[in-house]
Formats: sequence, C-alpha cells, structure tokens
Amino acid sequence: MSSILRRIVARKPIDSVQKEINEAEYKRPLNAWDLTCIGIGTTIGAGIFVLTGTAAKDYAGPAIILSYIISGVVCIFACLCYAELGSTLPVSGSAYSFTYAALGELLAWIVGWDLMLEYLVGSATVAVGWAYYLDTFVTGFTADGKSLFDQRFTNAPFIWLEASDTVAAGFYMNKVPCRPGSDELCQAYFNFPAFFIVVAITILLVIGIREAAWFNNTMVVIKIVVCILFVLTGIKFINNANYTPFIPPAQEYGHYGASGIFQASVSVFFAYIGFDAVTTTAQEAANPQRDLPIGIIASLGICTILYVAVAAVLVGMVPYSTISRGAPVGQALIDVGLPAMAVIISFGALVGLSSVLLSSLIAQPRIFYSMAYDGLLPSAFAKIHPKTGTPYVTTIVSGTVCALLSAFLPVDVLGNLASVGTLSAFFLVSVSTLVLRITQPDLPRKFQIPGGFWIGGMLIPFLSAFSAAGLFSQATIPAIIRVFAWMGVGLVVYFSFGFWHSRVGLGISTGGEPAAAGSKAAKA
Ligand code: ALA
Repeated sequence: MSSILRRIVARKPIDSVQKEINEAEYKRPLNAWDLTCIGIGTTIGAGIFVLTGTAAKDYAGPAIILSYIISGVVCIFACLCYAELGSTLPVSGSAYSFTYAALGELLAWIVGWDLMLEYLVGSATVAVGWAYYLDTFVTGFTADGKSLFDQRFTNAPFIWLEASDTVAAGFYMNKVPCRPGSDELCQAYFNFPAFFIVVAITILLVIGIREAAWFNNTMVVIKIVVCILFVLTGIKFINNANYTPFIPPAQEYGHYGASGIFQASVSVFFAYIGFDAVTTTAQEAANPQRDLPIGIIASLGICTILYVAVAAVLVGMVPYSTISRGAPVGQALIDVGLPAMAVIISFGALVGLSSVLLSSLIAQPRIFYSMAYDGLLPSAFAKIHPKTGTPYVTTIVSGTVCALLSAFLPVDVLGNLASVGTLSAFFLVSVSTLVLRITQPDLPRKFQIPGGFWIGGMLIPFLSAFSAAGLFSQATIPAIIRVFAWMGVGLVVYFSFGFWHSRVGLGISTGGEPAAAGSKAAKA
C-alpha cells in the first residue's frame, strides 16, 4: 500500500478518542433533560412547519403521512447506531469522530464536510422558514390579510424551478411585488429577516451555552404545546374527502404516485435532522454514557409521533393541492376560518424555528472543534473562550456563513441539500457501527443496540446503511449533483490542508494541544 493510501485510511485509535473525553476544556452543565431538549430543539422546525407544504402539494399528496413514517423508520435505525456510538465515544465531533475511529481519516473528513450541510445549510433553511412565519404572524394582525413587508427584502434573489410544460429546470431570478399589495413585479434583493435571526442567535451563543440551554428548554416546551394544540384544534376540521385520492396518480412533470411518496420522504427527512445533534454536545454532558442514549431516543420518539399526527391532520383539513408552500400549518387554520389560532400557531412556529437554529448553531462549532483538534482544520477553529467556555471563533464563522446562505438562497434548494448531505453522513455512521462491532467487539458500550451480535450488531446497522442509501437514491438529480460537488470541494480542502497537518497522519498522539501546528493560541 502506498504511503498516501496508508495515510488517508489511517484510523484514530479508540483509546486516544476516549482520552479526549477527559481532556476537553468544555464545561459540563448538561443533563438528560437538557440533551433531550437539544434533540427536540434541533428537530421540530422548518421540516414540519414549512417543507410539509411543498412535499404534500408537489410530491405525495395525502400520502405525505406515509412519507413521514418512511423517513421516521430510516431515522430509528440510524438513531440506534448514533446512540451506540455516542455512548461509546462521547466526543463532540459526533459522526465525524465515529467515522475517524472506524473507517479512517478520509471518510471521516467527508463526513465532517457533509455535516456542514446538515448544520450550516440546515440552519439556513430554518432561517428562511422563520422569515415565512414572521410574515404570516404579522399578516394575521392586518385587517385585509395582506403582507405588510416589502417582499424585495424578505426573499432570496433566486428561485429554483423544476422542469414543467413551460420552463426547463434551473435557477431563475425571483420577482416579487414591488410594494406591499402592488401588482407590479420587481427583483428580490435578499432575505433580511432570515439574516437577522441568524445573527441574533449567534450573538446569544457566543455569550455562553448555559444561557442558551435554559432558553432552548423553554422554547422546546412551547413548540411541543403548539404542535399538540394544532392537532387538537385541526382534528375537528378534518374532511375525509381530502384523503381521497390518498396517493394521487403520477404526473408527467410532477411526482405523485409511489415514487412521489419516496421523493417526499427525502424532503421531509429534513424534519428529522437534529436528534443526532445530541451527540455533538457529548463533551458538555454531565453523564454522557447514560444521558446521550436517553436524549437521542427520547427526542426522536417524541418527534415522530408529533409529525405523523400533524401531517395527518394537515392533509385532512385542506385539499393537498391548496396547501401553502411557505406556512402550511398557519395557512390551513386560516383556510378553515380560524385566523386567531393561526396567529398563535405562527408564533409557536417562530419559537420552534428559533430553537432549531439555536441547537444547530450549537452543534456546528463543536464539529469544527473536533476537526481542528485532529489537525484537519486550522488551530483557530479549536479556540475555546476562557470565560464563557464556548468555541467562539467557530460560532462566529458558522453564524456568518449561515446568515449569508439564508439571505441569498431559496428554502427548497437549501432543505434538499441539507437532507441529502445528512443521509450520506447517516450511511457512514451506520457502516462505522458495523465495522466497530467487528473490529472492536470488546469495547465498553454503555448503550448497545439490542439483539446480540447478529441482529443488534450486524442486521440493524446494515438496515440503517441500506435505508439511508435507498432514500439518498430517491433525491432529485440536481440535489445529488450539488452534494457530490460539495464533496469535491471538500477533497480539495483536505488535500490542501488536513492531509499535511493531521495529528494521526503525523504520528502525534492526541490529547494536549488541539491543533495541527500545536499552536499555543489554540488554548488561549
Ligand atoms: N429538523 C429540523 C427542522 O425541521 C432541521 O427544521
């Protein structure tokens, strides 16, 4: 084997990963309740409140209920893998660290690079959803039901159109009303509310995680209540006729039919992204071996039940063809004559989306931290603030990139990119679980997938990898191309920096200075 090949498949020794757990400089304020809230906080958001609309309207119709169940099943398998690896290796790099220990440096880098799609691009998606619900919330107070916002400053300058009778698939300039209520169309400039909310939350996170966790827990309770309120209110307005046809026939350019159900599953898979964020806070958990599995499994279970219930009520309340693309849940309440409830639910959605942003923007810097600790990113990315104990440099970098993405790109492009990138990370985590069961059978595992070696150790991780790959294959071609292009950029970055500075590659034992160059500044 050539030395280059040896380098890129070098695995991080498990004992050095476990050594990091004791040497990390993070404070450890989080308990099982906090971790469950971080899971739910990162999970219930733009997927259910925003993307359900497009997924039902364009892809699956009322069968969106099945799409949610399919994605939920994929996530349950992955969730078990995350729980096993998260309790075995409770370090903040999550899927990246697991892959490094099991499959080697290059695949770990690719996972870390894909996780940016999950957290940075995912956060940008949520911020755009936040802007939609801010508009719906404010509009609910107007007498004529028309938006008060200047749409040129609340929309991205581009939209993505799928192929149809009239247009070829591609990006087009986004034309919106020139003034509130006007019929004249003007070019949209950028999405100011989305930009604003990302900047505000980034500032909160730089101040410190303790405040952020407390704030997050409160927001999580509010959004669970809002989902239950929507279900209990909407259930009285279900019209059984709206469930027929349950699977609308396939269209020439549209989707529907059985394949539409799977394509909608890829879209609404976005709704489930986030429970894995619990593992990225492992170094801040008081008792990670016990609390991580509780946090992951509890948050996914609660979210799955709420999603299926909300989706079933939504498509029962309004015909799928009239569901709103931007704010489907709020709009359905208006459509059945409950505008006051729409305002309350929109407020809850705003809170819910804010908590997703908060949790996602907590997770991303911690992955950067792990990658910098291993020397795959510059040492500045591993800086922890001496007073607040937060990774402030990476928090600011993540917030800035996310704010710019949310200001300039449309929600569906961002959402699909995040979903497909996350599916590829899930695939590699599942393979890592399987490989570690074979190569490290005696590793102490606080949580082990039940079913013994063959079912828990082999079958479930295999089903997890298989289902993640299967869902990935159902994504649209442009979304898959974008993800591979992103990975290509990642490879260039790896071979320009990480390959030359990797601690594992250079044979430097981990622990101690968290940087490739061993810079003192990294610990400042
Ligand atoms: N699952 C998160 C959401 O739906 C990312 O917003």
